[in-house]
Order: sequence, then C-alpha cells, then structure tokens
Amino acid sequence: MARITVNVDGMTYTHEVEPRTLLVHHLREALGKTGTVVGCDTSNCGACTVLLDGDSVKSCSVLAVQADGARVETVAGLAGTDGTLHPVQTAFHENHGLQCGYCTPGMLMRSVCLVRENPSPTEDEVREGIKGNMCRCTGYQGIVSAIMAYAETARDEEAGR
Ligand code: FES
Ligand code: FES
Repeated sequence: MARITVNVDGMTYTHEVEPRTLLVHHLREALGKTGTVVGCDTSNCGACTVLLDGDSVKSCSVLAVQADGARVETVAGLAGTDGTLHPVQTAFHENHGLQCGYCTPGMLMRSVCLVRENPSPTEDEVREGIKGNMCRCTGYQGIVSAIMAYAETARDEEAGR
C-alpha cells in the first residue's frame, strides 16, 4: 500500500491505496466523487476527465499514486456550495449541451480546461479541443455551442462586465 495526499475540490484527503489503483476509482470509491464516471475500458471516451494540477486528464489512465501531492478538480466541485451552477454548467443547460448526460462530467471539465487555455476559441478549436471526449448521443452541436457561450461568459467575467 502507498500513502497519498491529494487535494480534491479544495479539500485535502490522505489515504492508503494499492499502487495499481486508478485515480478514477480512488475518486469514486474512497472520496465519494461519483460524479466522475467511467464510460469505457479503453481510455477512449473522456467521461472520467478531471483536472490534475490544472491539466485535463482521463482519470482512468492515471494512477492514484501519480496524484500524490496534486490538486484535482472534479465535476463535483464546479457548482457553489449553495448549489449555484458554475457558468460552464449554465452554458450547457442553456445550449442543450447534454442529452443522456453520461459524457457531461468529462465534457464540463474538458471545457473548463480548454477555455482557461484558450479564452477565445474558434468553433474549430472547440471541436479539436474536445476530440478526446466522446458523446454517444452525438449531441456535439449543442456541446460546441455551450462551450462557445461559456467562453464568452468567462471573457465577460474576466473583463468585469
Ligand atoms: Fe476514462 Fe473512458 S472512462 S476514457
Ligand atoms: Fe449522452 Fe453525451 S449526452 S453521451
């Protein structure tokens, strides 16, 4: 067993884990972060995407021990403690960015990373940016519109508008 300490959504947790434990399983099973989901067993779908020290990663392809000392952001940390939606969640809601919702946790986290890295993405850059995230409902048009709308909101917030 290995002892790891990870800051997840602003709280610090220390646990003993098996060296082979995947980060997604650690998040779901030890920390109760069940909003982060598993959608495949081939590291293809992106449903398990979280931010690891600010970079989006597929948490099914990262070992929990690799997150020792890191800061992890999951979908569970997006909304405020009073339930206020994060602007990316509002954008997905208002632009029909989800159907069954299974890909949504990963899409949201990937979107947050994408807009942090590129605050003014073109539609093509958004499509390129989410190519590692699969929507089996094929709702890509709504997802792309949602991310474009979120980027605009984030720019306005940044500018204090
Ligand atoms: Fe991680 Fe599909 S569950 S990529
Ligand atoms: Fe169903 Fe994307 S909304 S998989």
